[in-house]
Order: sequence, then structure tokens, then C-alpha cells
Amino acid sequence: MSDSKQVTWGGRFSDGPSDLMLRFSESVSFDARLARYDVQVNKAHSAMLAKVGILTEEEKFSIHDGLDRFLDRLKKGEIQWDPALEDVHMNIEQALTKEVPAAAKMHTGRSRNDQIATDMRLFFKEASTQIRSSLKSGLGILLEKAKAFEDVMIPGYTHLQRAQPVSVAHHLLAYMEMFLRDYQRFGAVWEAANECPLGSGALAGSTLPLDREETARLLGFVDSQGNPRLTANSMDAISDRDVFLDFAQAAAVSGIHFSRLAEDFILWSSSEFNFLVLPDAFCTGSSLMPQKKNPDAMELLRGKAARLQGNLQTLMVLCKGLPLTYNRDLQEDKPPVFDSYDHLTISLEVLAGCLEGMDFRRDVCAQAVADPLLLATDLADYLVQRGVAFRRAHHLVGTVVGIAEKANLPIDQLPDEEVRGLDEAFGLDWRDVFSLERARRERRSFGSPGIGPVKQALRNWEARLSEL
Ligand code: ARG
Repeated sequence: MSDSKQVTWGGRFSDGPSDLMLRFSESVSFDARLARYDVQVNKAHSAMLAKVGILTEEEKFSIHDGLDRFLDRLKKGEIQWDPALEDVHMNIEQALTKEVPAAAKMHTGRSRNDQIATDMRLFFKEASTQIRSSLKSGLGILLEKAKAFEDVMIPGYTHLQRAQPVSVAHHLLAYMEMFLRDYQRFGAVWEAANECPLGSGALAGSTLPLDREETARLLGFVDSQGNPRLTANSMDAISDRDVFLDFAQAAAVSGIHFSRLAEDFILWSSSEFNFLVLPDAFCTGSSLMPQKKNPDAMELLRGKAARLQGNLQTLMVLCKGLPLTYNRDLQEDKPPVFDSYDHLTISLEVLAGCLEGMDFRRDVCAQAVADPLLLATDLADYLVQRGVAFRRAHHLVGTVVGIAEKANLPIDQLPDEEVRGLDEAFGLDWRDVFSLERARRERRSFGSPGIGPVKQALRNWEARLSEL
């Protein structure tokens, strides 16, 4: 047994918790990273208590002064966190109370339940802002690369089989659409986090005349007009973990996007494709095979997607079936969130480095995309424009492909008679479709990989990025 009763809640106990229980139940080992937000919340709460006359101005000043000094020590790394005090809230309160007697009043009209809910909402707002800014720089790098490789064509794939030609630019712009949705998703997380639960107490508010709007304003939980935004139900406010789920979900979806890009890059940098050169700085060698250059950064990005999904899963299972309101299970909500945040942010940095340093092998790409079969669909479109129903056009071109395969000839080198004999819709110019230039020129519709639409997309992206 530990020899001291808990200072914060030990009144009704005759003995303190066992050392094992302390080790089992402490959270300061992971929630100490919320200290900055907790100080902010303490300041706002005590300012509000002074405003409504529960604290004197003097008491408020001494609390604020003590909190500032605490922050200084925190920055200097001088704070010793004590697991016996359970969590970040109790550690800060105890440290402060030793120096500032008025700190004994700081927890008036408040519970750790609304305190942690508020701390975490501050964390989510800052974290999503930061992730959005990294996503925005990632988008900027992708746009630069898309411009640099606008004229490089590669085969686009379905079923991992060569399908139709696309430009590298078009391919990179596809990731940009995904990352922009991630950016918007984290914007929605920010919005959802922007409601202040402080004042909800343990679950049932307080009999004291708290001014919730004041604390919300002081902590920046306001709308675009500066009006305070408050959670509307005290029981929901302290048991709700939807923002945790939203954040983890946004991170998991980003992870999926990163992993899809990573998989493309892994394939492209293999000898089999050989389109892409990844920067040495983000690759590793083999301890045994001297020739190896492994795309480990990409593989790890692909792997991180798993833990991001795992974290979301942990949170969903954690919340499922919990009775209202607070249950200690909820303390387990923080490690998965912090883990997602940490791994997503470093992933974003690594991704930016890889994108910045990557290069395409123009000659290999040109060779891969020269396969005329990639334009078989264009030949079907040609027949359609000459009045053939698409289903028949598809069948006719399929027949031509079969003949070419049997004759072991490239499709565009089959004798005229053989092709034109199949249907009168094949004109003298049937071979003209086997030109990449034509393929790019003729793809005119919005969102397609033609020269015009890609140029337009690159221009649009300049504007879209400037609005973020
Ligand atoms: N460390 C706790 C958590 O993160 C804070 C809330 C504790 N509340 C309580 N009633 N024990 O969940």
C-alpha cells in the first residue's frame, strides 16, 4: 500500500491505493503532453471564477502568476511528473497549490471530466490546424512536380494491367484530390472540436453561477463572429468522444491515401516498371545484398496506414456500449489519438521529402507508353464516330487485337486489307488513332488526362491552393 491517501480525493478513504493500482491507473505518462492546454484551461477557468465573484482578483492574479511560472519550468524541462497523482490535471494543481494557496480554489465548479474534454478539444484544434498546414505544403510540392512532368506520359493501370495512357501530371493530380479531401476532413474535425465543454462539471453542471460563455471566449471556442460556442448538454459533453473518432478517422483515411501513393511509387521504382527514381535520402540498402536500394520510406508509409486504422478501431471499440456518462475506460482514449497524430505528422514530413526528391525516367516512361495497345479504346471511339454502335466497335477492335496477337505484330502495323476487311467503318486513316499526341489532344472533357484539361487543372490548382 502506498503510505499516503490521495490528496485530491482521499477524504472518504482510510487507505491510499496500492502501488500496483497507481501504476495501473496513472495517465500522466501520456497526458503530460496536454500540460500546455491544461494551464490555458486553468487560466480561463480561474479568470471566469473571478469575474463571477467566486475568486478575488488577487487570488486570480496569484493563480495566473503561478501558472506562468509553472509554464516556464515546463519549457525548461524542470517538471517532475508524479504518477501517484494520476494525471496531468492533479499534477499541475498540486504543483501550484504548493506555491499558491489560492490554487486550492482553482477546481471550483469543475471536474476533471469537463477539464479533460476541454484540454482535448484544444489539442484537436491545434493538431488539425497543423496537419492541414502540412497537407497544404504537400499539395504545393505535388503541384510543382505535376508541372515539371506535365509532358511525361505513362501507362495508367486498371487491375494492374496497362490500360490507357495518362500523363504523370494527371496521375499526381489524382493524389492532390485525395489530399485536398483530407485537408477538408481535418477542417471538419476543427469545426467539431470548436465547442467548449467547460462548466459541464462531472456530468451535471454546477450550482455555482459559472459563466460558460466567458470561458469559451477566453479559450477561443468562438464562431467567425466571435460568439462563444458551447456544448449543449452536460452529460453528452463529458462522455462524447466523437471528435476523437473524427480525428482518428481523418487520420486513417489520410493513411489510406498515403499508402496508395506509396504502393504506386514502390511499383514504379521497381526494376519491372523502372519509371521512378526515389531519393537516396529516403531509401535504404540491404545488409547482405550490395546492389539493393529499397523503398523503405514508402513501405513504412504503407505500413503506418495499418496503425492509423488500428487506432480508429481501438477508439470505436472503447466507446461502444459505454453507459453515460464518464467511465474510466475513457482514459484509454488518448494514446491512440496521440499515436495517430505523431505518426501522421512524421509521415507527412517524410512524404514531402520523397516527393521533393523524386525523379521520373523519361526514356523508360516513353518506352512503356509507346505500346499501341494502350490506344485500342481510341480505335473503338474512332469507329463510334463513324456510326458504329459501341458494343460492335468494341467487338471489332477486340478482333483486331486478336489478329495482331496471332500475327505477332504491333496492332498499328497490321495490313490495311486485314483490318479494313472487317468493317467498312475502318477508313484509310484507321492507323492515325495510334498517336499519343492525338490521344492527348482528343481528350477534351473536364477532368480527363488530355493536354487541355490537364493544363486547366494545373491552373485551377494554383487557385484552389491559394484559397486554402
Ligand atoms: N485522467 C482522466 C482521463 O483522462 C481524467 C478524468 C478523470 N476523471 C475521473 N472521474 N476519474 O480520463
